[in-house]
Amino acid sequence: MELNKIYNENCLQTMAQMPENYIDLTLTSPPYDDLRNYNGFLFEFEKIVKQLYRVTKNGGVVIWVVSDATKDGGETGTSFKQALYFMQNGFNLHDTMIYYKNNPMPTAGKRYHQHFEYMFAFSKGQPNTFNPITENCKYNGLVNMKNRGQNGELSYKKVERTTKKKVGNVFFYSIGGGISTKDTIAHNHPAIFPEQLANDQIKTWSNEGDLVYDCFMGSGTTAKIAHLLKRNWIGSEISAEYVEIANKRMEQFAQILTF
Ligand SMILES: C[S@@+](CC[C@H](N)C(=O)[O-])C[C@H]1O[C@@H](n2cnc3c(N)ncnc32)[C@H](O)[C@@H]1O
Repeated sequence: MELNKIYNENCLQTMAQMPENYIDLTLTSPPYDDLRNYNGFLFEFEKIVKQLYRVTKNGGVVIWVVSDATKDGGETGTSFKQALYFMQNGFNLHDTMIYYKNNPMPTAGKRYHQHFEYMFAFSKGQPNTFNPITENCKYNGLVNMKNRGQNGELSYKKVERTTKKKVGNVFFYSIGGGISTKDTIAHNHPAIFPEQLANDQIKTWSNEGDLVYDCFMGSGTTAKIAHLLKRNWIGSEISAEYVEIANKRMEQFAQILTF
C-alpha cells in the first residue's frame, strides 16, 4: 500500500487492501449518529469494526472518539453500543478516556451542557506501546515522611519521591476556530478534533516510524500530526471535498517523508 496518502474512498475499500496485523495505531472519529450530513457517507459500522480488528497489529490500539446525538428527548447511547460491539469482536476495552471540552457550545433543555466525548482506547491484546504523558507530582523532590515509632512517637525523615506521575485519563482541550488548529482551511470541515488531542494520543500509543491509520480522515488532523511526529500514516475519507481540504492542509509540508 502507498503510505502517507489519503484514499478518497469508503474505509472498507482501503482496509480490504491491507494485510492482517498491519496498523500500529488507528486514531479516528466516526460520523456521530446522523448528527451531520457529510457528503454522501456510507457508514457500515459492524463491517468496519471487523476490518479494524483484522488490520490492527497484535498489541495495536484503536482510539475511537465518539459522542451521542440527542433524539426524541434522550441520548442515543450509540457510544456505549459501539464500545460493546468492539469488545464482542475481540478488542480489549483498554481505557475509557474522556475528551473534555473546556468551552463547548452551550446546550438548551433540562440537562447540563455537554462537555465531553468518549475516547475509547481499544487494544488487540495488551498494548505494545505506552508512552504516558506525565505531570509533576505535587510533593516532588525531598519531602518529610511521617512515621510512628513503637511508642507512638512521630519521627520525620527526608525521602525522595518520584518527581513525575502519569496524568489522568480525562484530557482537557479548548476548541474552536484558531484553537483546535491554526490552519483556517481545516475549519471548512464541520467536525474536526483538536490537533493537541491527536498529538497526545499518537505520542502515547505509537513510536516514531510506526504506522498510524485514520479511517475517517476528515480535514486531515491525524495525517498532519502523525507526519509532524515522524510516524507513517494512511487515511480514508469518503468525501472528495474533504480530501481536497486535507491535501491542501498537508501542502504546507514541502515534502511528505516516508520514515
Ligand atoms: C467526525 S469526521 C472526522 C473529522 C476528523 N477527525 C478531523 O479532525 O478532521 C468523520 C468523517 O468521516 C467521513 N466518512 C463517513 N463515512 C465514511 C466511510 N465509510 N469511509 C471513509 N470516510 C467516511 C465523513 O465524510 C467525515 O469527514
